[in-house]
Amino acid sequence: MFSSPTPLRAALLAQILGGIAAAVIIQLAYPQLFTVALAGAALQGVCAALIGHWLGAPKWWLPIHCLFMPAVVLASRLNIDSNWYLAALLLLLLIFWRTDQSRVPLYLSNAATARALKTMLPAAPCLVIDLGCAHGGLLRRLARARPDCRFVGIEHAPLPWLWAKLASLTLPNLQIRYGDFWRQNLASFDVVYAFLSPVPMPRLMEKALAEMRPGTLLVSNSFAVPAVTAERVVELADRRATRLHCYRM
Ligand SMILES: C[S@@+](CC[C@H](N)C(=O)[O-])C[C@H]1O[C@@H](n2cnc3c(N)ncnc32)[C@H](O)[C@@H]1O
Repeated sequence: MFSSPTPLRAALLAQILGGIAAAVIIQLAYPQLFTVALAGAALQGVCAALIGHWLGAPKWWLPIHCLFMPAVVLASRLNIDSNWYLAALLLLLLIFWRTDQSRVPLYLSNAATARALKTMLPAAPCLVIDLGCAHGGLLRRLARARPDCRFVGIEHAPLPWLWAKLASLTLPNLQIRYGDFWRQNLASFDVVYAFLSPVPMPRLMEKALAEMRPGTLLVSNSFAVPAVTAERVVELADRRATRLHCYRM
């Protein structure tokens, strides 16, 4: 269930079924518990976690299921204006956008990765794209290091995109675009960089094979393409032991 493209729906289903299961258990075993909201919420959480587990949720979902409804009950006692919840939701949405659909969370390439990537760029002036560039930090490092090359970043999360766009204004060889990288044709790029997640890798390789020119390079930070052998894997001596999977088209 959770390997489907909509893990959020599966989580919602687990929460709803957990609520029904908890209500049935309380009704049958101890109806007075309906008046103790936190205890009912705790039971709902346990039921939701068990159902989530049964639906195939990864382990890290289970504490979320357990704690979600008790947190709702406790938060409702704090008398916080509901507009703050709306504001928090909007802020998270503007930063992370539809992670539930893209299945690509937000985390950033570090300086060691930028240094390694710089050594992989062709000696001649070239065109490089970062698919899902977030706040554009990696591209700014590269754009400063290689003023003879042009760099493009594409991002669909509004706040990271805005940050990247504003921070790129002083770098003439860096262009930040707003949008969905799946709609970006890759034919003109000499190097395509991606730091995504395991989920989109097969689709990304399909797209790269269909659009990138022979001899150009696809570099994937951390996530290998299943069943495709990389030309080489560069292992960095950084804290997270970054591996850059390099695929020559
Ligand atoms: C793991 S972060 C990597 C950020 C940056 N490339 C780096 O290495 O520092 C992935 C980024 O891809 C963005 N993203 C995911 N799917 C996208 C899509 N279809 N189009 C544009 N951006 C996308 C996310 O919003 C996120 O900012």
